[in-house]
Amino acid sequence: MPGLNFLSGNETADMKQNLTIALSKGRILKDTLPLLEAADIIPAEDIFSSRKLIFDTNHDNIKLVVIRATDVPTYVEHGGADMGVAGKDVLLEYGAKGLYEPLDLDIARCRLMVAGMKDAGEVEGRMTVATKFVNITKEFFARQGRQVDIIKLYGAMELAPIMGLADRIVDIVDTGNTLRANGLVPMEDICYVSSRLVVGKAALKMKHRQIQPIIEQLAAAVDARKERSEQI
Ligand code: ATP
Ligand code: PRP
Repeated sequence: MPGLNFLSGNETADMKQNLTIALSKGRILKDTLPLLEAADIIPAEDIFSSRKLIFDTNHDNIKLVVIRATDVPTYVEHGGADMGVAGKDVLLEYGAKGLYEPLDLDIARCRLMVAGMKDAGEVEGRMTVATKFVNITKEFFARQGRQVDIIKLYGAMELAPIMGLADRIVDIVDTGNTLRANGLVPMEDICYVSSRLVVGKAALKMKHRQIQPIIEQLAAAVDARKERSEQI
């Protein structure tokens, strides 16, 4: 029947729209690729040994871009990519309103914490906090009615209290080894962090039929990974 043919032709075209997925380079990438593979999205070449920024996949309409973690929400919110993978820390700090967060990928798990020198006493007066998470830090202390001065750093936050730059830091803590190695201790818990799948609002509307099965396959891969790790 011509009507049915017309419908299925449209569906095929819809399923074939170009789709770009933004991946955080760095520590999240190696845990992201097996999840994508389980959703049948496989880069056409080895990402780790390439200087390329855009990668073809086993689907001629799906591309991967590999960028700094902090740039992922920007790309997805503004439509430079349709979906992405980024840490909850990065997403909270960015504060995007134009992003859906349909799936916790359960990788790169850690906590955001306030930390300070082991022997640091109470801070009298205004506290100085060094961090790369300026917005999260502002909000955390504001919610407690505490006024703090924030110093923005881009890495090695643990050094700041040692050098007398700040009373406290706000940073990622996983094993606690970096804090311990530098004579710091965790003091207050801010939130749990793991990597999330994010989808742009426009992309979810325009490419829903293409994106939904990917979300479902990734969710199944996350569950399978959890089951495997519970068995060990
Ligand atoms: P950039 O290099 O762009 O400044 P970054 O150094 O924060 O970013 P990564 O170290 O690759 O990038 O970390 C990416 C994400 O991994 C973080 O946003 C956070 O969600 C998570 N993460 C960071 N450190 C740890 C850790 N020690 N253990 C587990 N997860 C972590
Ligand atoms: C992250 C974070 C802490 C460390 C925490 O640093 O900024 O320094 O990991 O992990 P741990 O509790 O297991 O020691 P990263 O290694 O990414 O270095 P950078 O952010 O300073 O580049």
